[in-house]
Amino acid sequence: MEHGPLINFIRDLYGTPKGEIPLHAPVFKGNEKEYLQKCIDTGYVSSIGEFVGQLEAMVRTCTGAAHASAVVNGTSALHAALLAVGVGKGDMVITQGLSFVATANAVVYCGAEPIFLDVENQSFGLDPQAVADFLENSTYFHNHRCCHIQTGKRIAACVPMHTFGHPCKIEQIVEICSEYSIPVVEDAAEALGSRSNGKPCGLFGAAGIFSFNGNKIVTSGGGGMVVTNDLKIGAKVRYLTTTAKKPHPYLYEHTEVGYNYRMSNINASLGCAQLERLDDFLSQKREIATRYQKFFENSTIRHMSEPAGTHSNYWLNAVIMSNRQERDKLLAETNQAGIFTRPVWTPLNRLPMYKDAVTDSLEQTDYLADRIVNLPSSVRS
Ligand SMILES: Cc1ncc(COP(=O)(O)O)c(C=O)c1O
Repeated sequence: MEHGPLINFIRDLYGTPKGEIPLHAPVFKGNEKEYLQKCIDTGYVSSIGEFVGQLEAMVRTCTGAAHASAVVNGTSALHAALLAVGVGKGDMVITQGLSFVATANAVVYCGAEPIFLDVENQSFGLDPQAVADFLENSTYFHNHRCCHIQTGKRIAACVPMHTFGHPCKIEQIVEICSEYSIPVVEDAAEALGSRSNGKPCGLFGAAGIFSFNGNKIVTSGGGGMVVTNDLKIGAKVRYLTTTAKKPHPYLYEHTEVGYNYRMSNINASLGCAQLERLDDFLSQKREIATRYQKFFENSTIRHMSEPAGTHSNYWLNAVIMSNRQERDKLLAETNQAGIFTRPVWTPLNRLPMYKDAVTDSLEQTDYLADRIVNLPSSVRS
């Protein structure tokens, strides 16, 4: 078996000589049970309760964000953030062709349509050059709004994503978009704890979001967070995600169609216990990535390491195979051996609901889609 040494390496890494090794499983060895019990004891298990505010405060502290709103998942966080920066019906939003489907779906929930541009080969995130080219060649200005030449629609936001936790070239993207007055919403679902030039991912644009899904670096079971340094955007997110209800001790006054997106106290209690362990998880992730890096050092297989100037959370380790056949061989051999490796997402423009979307060449997207394999990356304790 060609990948026998890799299989043995992963089994050794996880101290699991036999049986399955998941791609990413959570570890609950901190205060999870205690906080869940506490939450149940208070009787406040839904969206009112102390853990929700506590989780928001913890995220503000660890990211330095002025505002954090806890919501039911990362998808709803993206939806609310996009609405709060002004994305609406008939708009267009630039994002990357290589991402999880939620990135594009959140755009559609706003009544807008996604534009899929290429990723670059270092971070696998949105390519700033692709954004610059598209804005220069395919848009015009009308009433101070950047509009798409072909459709006349307004480009209302740009959503770069930090793939597998590796920071994309976010500073360049924000700079280019600001020249066109386009707000940036960072899909940092996978990048809690990652930094670019010392600054936390999620805080470069107008708003950013994290996911606390069960497969993320920190989980609340299901959950998400919108972060922003713009308190007006933060207030709008809070309002929209709490059914657009005017704050009042007992009156029900809603001024627009809002969303019941507030995180539950049960989820937040789990999230608080997990977030207490973030630094420990981050150092374990780095150690796992370093071991993978060493394993692939003299191999033709490229292990993806953090781009220069960034500090990745190494949420998910990835390798790039030389071609699709090699990728398929690695996937087949490892999965047959009970090691859960996975290909990257199908590029979004190939999904039936996005097949007519505006795109650029998506050259790197197609190249990487054929070659990326994600490797088991759970923390061990
Ligand atoms: C890039 C990206 N965006 C958005 C999401 C959506 O997050 P959630 O699953 O919490 O809705 C995820 C993960 O699941 C993701 O990986």
